[in-house]
Amino acid sequence: LKPATPQLAAIAHNPPAAGYAQRASGYTATPMPTQLIQLTPSHPDQSGIARAAAIIQRGGLVAFPTETVYGLGANGLDPVAVNGIFKAKQRPHSDPLILHVAHWSDIARYADLAGVDALVEQLAHAFMPGALTLVLPKRTCVPDSVTANGPSVALRVPAHPVAQALIAAAGVPIAAPSANLFSRPSPTTAAMVLEDLDGRIDAVIDGGATTIGVESTIISLCGAPTLLRPGGVALEAIEALIGEVLLPAEAVLPEEQTQPAPGMLLKHYSPRARLLLLESAQQLHEVAMRQHGGKLGLLLPSESLQCLQHIEAERIDLGSDAASAAARLFKGMRELDQRGCTHILTHYLPLEGLGRAINDRLFRAAEGKVL
Ligand code: TXA
Ligand code: MG
Repeated sequence: LKPATPQLAAIAHNPPAAGYAQRASGYTATPMPTQLIQLTPSHPDQSGIARAAAIIQRGGLVAFPTETVYGLGANGLDPVAVNGIFKAKQRPHSDPLILHVAHWSDIARYADLAGVDALVEQLAHAFMPGALTLVLPKRTCVPDSVTANGPSVALRVPAHPVAQALIAAAGVPIAAPSANLFSRPSPTTAAMVLEDLDGRIDAVIDGGATTIGVESTIISLCGAPTLLRPGGVALEAIEALIGEVLLPAEAVLPEEQTQPAPGMLLKHYSPRARLLLLESAQQLHEVAMRQHGGKLGLLLPSESLQCLQHIEAERIDLGSDAASAAARLFKGMRELDQRGCTHILTHYLPLEGLGRAINDRLFRAAEGKVL
């Protein structure tokens, strides 16, 4: 194995001795550090995929790339393996998981499509494989630990060739949340996964940086179509296809679903630094000039950064459109943490396309506070 980055090389040659005691999955008899499986994203080598699939089949935990963010996968039909995910991530059991399947026609194995089959087919033809997750009434074969004892299950067909190959080789649906510790920014590289989970999971497949960079869009079809989380597929594209989609505040949720999707919790996707979130670039200069009593980081589109050239700060350039901002968002948050920033100044993007998902993540990272 030849790690791609110096950081991964250091980890591969210098595996941490401790940490394995907290290994979440049950099957490993001998303590071992997290294995790094290096794969070419477009043409993943089958022997690497087979190694990862064997770990999943034995009830272990494998982090793998999808086109949105890295997921932490386990056999979605094995409640013990699924419990390992919660333990490794320190995630509350009340937060349900997405089941990843290879093809949209597999959705009907795990969800009851009565009354919504035409709608599912329409959405699947347009957005699957891709960054869309559908929440549907669950079938009894889905373990309660996957759905947090709820009546519905979330299903996604990832497009990434590594994810596709892994699901096919494992021969089971793969339950996978984002591969970060609970409430931390989601990982978009294998190095970010290891930062949170090294020694806590069996393996990570390094398939390079993810292309989209924010998680999938989640639509509930239990009742009128409702947006549970904005994400990689634009709401506008979904509405152009199926008509109006309710926003969470407008939806009347069935009684069992009184809890919002926990991805909708505040204090999510958070860097360690405090996020200073502005509505727009307007007050940017004024706020950047204030004394923050620490080291300032700027997480901003290129144009906004250019207005602050004279300010002393660490800088992450989000680029000049929403797609590049999405791809750099979580990595940028973590990088500013690593550079020792105590405050991160940023602002909302226009509320269209991927901008909706980016603003949602910024709002939660700022724990709901907009300056
Ligand atoms: O792009 C993604 O969706 C990534 C990749 C790995 O597929 N996965 C991901 O999973 O973001 P996670 O667990 O970090 O976020 C999934 C969200 C959680 O907020 C969870 O509460 C919600 O989906 N969810 C899962 N099942 C649900 C259900 N039955 N009803 C409502 N929300 C659900
Ligand atoms: Mg997550």
